[in-house]
Amino acid sequence: MQIKIAIGTIAFMLTMIILGFAALSEPARLQTYTGARDGRFIEKGAEVFEANCATCHGVNGKAEECYAAATGEQIGCQGLPLNNADLLCGNPPPRIAAQGWEGTTFDYIRGTVTSGRPWNGMPTWAQEFGGPLQEDQVYNVALFVSNWQNDELCSGPPPEAVAWPTSVAELPEGNPDNGPQLYNVTYGCTACHGNPAETGSNLVGPWLGEIASIGATRLDGYTAADYMYESILHPSNFIAPDCPNGPCTGPPSSMPANFGQRMSLQDMADILSYLLGTTTFESTAEVVYP
Ligand code: HEC
Ligand code: HEC
Repeated sequence: MQIKIAIGTIAFMLTMIILGFAALSEPARLQTYTGARDGRFIEKGAEVFEANCATCHGVNGKAEECYAAATGEQIGCQGLPLNNADLLCGNPPPRIAAQGWEGTTFDYIRGTVTSGRPWNGMPTWAQEFGGPLQEDQVYNVALFVSNWQNDELCSGPPPEAVAWPTSVAELPEGNPDNGPQLYNVTYGCTACHGNPAETGSNLVGPWLGEIASIGATRLDGYTAADYMYESILHPSNFIAPDCPNGPCTGPPSSMPANFGQRMSLQDMADILSYLLGTTTFESTAEVVYP
C-alpha cells in the first residue's frame, strides 16, 4: 500500500514536471505560430485595404495621396491618416485616449471599421451591420492597419494635435498660389463647393466665389475670415442658408467635421487667402477648437 502511494506520488510529480516544461516552452511556440498566421492575415488585410480603404485613407494609409477607384484620377483624401503616430503609438495612443476608448488599439480599429461612423463619412463595413465585408476581412484589415505601428513610426517625440489659435489673425501669412491644389485635390472642397471662378459649379454646398463679401454678413461680430475659419473647423456651428438643392440641412452639417485634424495652420491660411484674396486675416471674433 505504502509503495503504491509512493509510486503514485512519484508518477504525479513526474507528470507535473513534464507538463511544467511543456508549459514553459509554450509561449515561444505560440508566438512563432501566431507570427506566421498573422503574416498571412496581414497580407489578406492589405488586399482589403487596397480595394476598399485607399480611396479615402490614401496610399500607405497616410491620407496624403488618394486616387478614385473608377478613374485612377487623384482626388482629395476624405479619411484621416491611419499610418500615423497619433493613432498607433503609445499606450493608449493620444488619438484613442481622446476618444475615451479604454480597450486596445486593435479593437478600436476593428470596432471603427465594423460599424463605421457614417455621420462623419466613414462607411459601415461589417456585413453584420449592413456593410460589404465578412468578419474575417474586417479582422484582417484591422490587423493590417495595426501593423503600421513600428519603432520608426513611434520613436519620435509624441505627436501633438494642431493647436488652432482662437483668432484667425494669428495664422501664418497665407499663400494664395497654393490654394487651388489644396482646395481641389488635397482636401477636395471643390467636390462640394465647385470652382470659385464659375457661378453654379457647386453640387452640394454653397458656392464660395463671393465668400469674401458674403462671409462678413453671416454672423454678427464676425469678419469674413472669422466666419470661414469657424465654418471649416466647426461646420455645424452655423448652417449656411442656401445649398444648390434647396436650404442647407443641419446641424449636423453635411460638410466633414474633421478638417481641424487633417489640416496644418499653413494649409488653412493658404486656402483662406485663395478664397478671400488677402494674405493676412482680420479678426473680431474668437473660435475655440476643439
Ligand atoms: C468614403 C471614405 C472612406 C472609406 C472608403 C473608408 N474610410 Fe475610414 N474613415 C473615413 C473618415 C471620414 C473617417 C473619420 C471619421 C471621423 O472623423 O469620425 C474615417 C475613420 C477611420 C478610422 C478611425 C481613425 C481615427 O483616427 O479615429 C479607421 C481605423 C478607419 N477609418 C479605417 C478604415 C478602413 C480599414 C477602411 C476600409 C475597410 C476605411 N476606413 C474606409 C472615411 C473613409
Ligand atoms: C462633402 C461636402 C463638403 C466638403 C468636402 C466641404 N464642404 Fe464646406 N460646406 C458643405 C455644406 C453642405 C455646407 C453648408 C452647410 C453648412 O453651413 O455647414 C458647407 C459650408 C461651408 C462654408 C460656409 C459657406 C457659406 O456660404 O456660409 C464654408 C466657408 C465652407 N463650407 C468651406 C469649405 C472648405 C474650405 C472646404 C475644403 C477644405 C470645404 N468646405 C469642404 C459641404 C462640404
